[in-house]
Amino acid sequence: MWALLDDTATQITLIASVLTMTAVAVLIYFIQHRMRKDAHVHEGDHTFDGIAEGLNPTPFGLHLIMVAVIGFAFWYVMMGFPIWNWTQAEQYDQEVSAYKAKFDDQWANADESTMLAMGESLFNANCVACHGYTGEGQNGLAANLVEFGTEKHVASVIQHGTKGSGYLTPMMPPQAPTIAAMFGAEEDVLAQNIHNVAAYVVTLSGKQPKLGDPTAGQPIYMATCMACHGMDGKGMGPAGNIPNFAKDLTAYGTPADVVRTLKHGKRGHIGSMPSFAEKGILSDLQYQALAVYVSKELN
Ligand code: HEC
Ligand code: HEC
Repeated sequence: MWALLDDTATQITLIASVLTMTAVAVLIYFIQHRMRKDAHVHEGDHTFDGIAEGLNPTPFGLHLIMVAVIGFAFWYVMMGFPIWNWTQAEQYDQEVSAYKAKFDDQWANADESTMLAMGESLFNANCVACHGYTGEGQNGLAANLVEFGTEKHVASVIQHGTKGSGYLTPMMPPQAPTIAAMFGAEEDVLAQNIHNVAAYVVTLSGKQPKLGDPTAGQPIYMATCMACHGMDGKGMGPAGNIPNFAKDLTAYGTPADVVRTLKHGKRGHIGSMPSFAEKGILSDLQYQALAVYVSKELN
């Protein structure tokens, strides 16, 4: 479309342009009229190098224009765009949320492959700058999303600890030393124990372990992880009654988990991920599409 004619601002601008052009035409008419009529101007006493001040009254048309301009300015500030209840930022927010709602309506019944395609294009637009096209995190610049949610990722969290997602417990310290102290420090024993507890952790969110033995991992979980993540893994502390105490491992790597990270952001050991809720650019459906893409397609 060449112009948004149904937009109030456009309409006002159009009317204002027509008024201005009319005013200019009237002005030109009066000036030409006068030039013809008063080829000789009455001069005052003040002269300077032979140039004197004219003593003619200002033309009536100019007074009209002056009054009209003041009237228009008054209308513009008080009624057109009232200064007390209109801001550009607010209008922007309203328009953006209206478009988001329209978008979500349009795709309300999208099937999984549509969601994945949507997720992929959103990922390319918003995430590749840090996570890379493959999602692998560009050599440690950001989290490796291909491994995120797998035993490999749990194992690396056990080695390095993690922080910055806004739980009551501000950080999870590295757990490998504790596991070594309690269950054996020999290199291969420790590695096997870490794989087993990681296997147990991924079963909490309903995944099939590939590297370790969850049955062997359970006692290690109870001894080292339960204090924060709880018996059931829901992240509500040792007695399971403190909401938001630590990460809910039953949701680990699921779409809900990804949405939480997107909304909250994460300032971790690897680096800082922005909060997309603060940026305010994604609609509810777009969060879902990204979450499905990250949790199902990337890993
Ligand atoms: C001191 C409390 C504490 C202990 C003990 C603990 N965790 Fe955590 N864990 C946390 C907190 C808090 C988070 C969330 C940190 C953040 O991102 O803000 C977390 C996050 C995680 C995550 C998610 C990591 C990510 O990148 O999203 C995994 C997996 C995990 N813990 C596994 C374990 C395992 C396995 C153990 C035992 C070997 C364990 N935790 C022991 C507090 C703890
Ligand atoms: C400015 C860079 C940046 C952008 C943009 C970014 N991320 Fe991240 N993301 C990170 C960093 C850094 C981490 C690792 C934080 C840590 O654990 O230290 C991370 C971690 C994650 C995690 C793992 C969270 C966890 O619990 O460990 C997920 C999932 C994720 N990002 C998804 C996304 C998605 C989806 C997008 C796009 C909508 C995105 N990120 C955009 C930098 C970014």
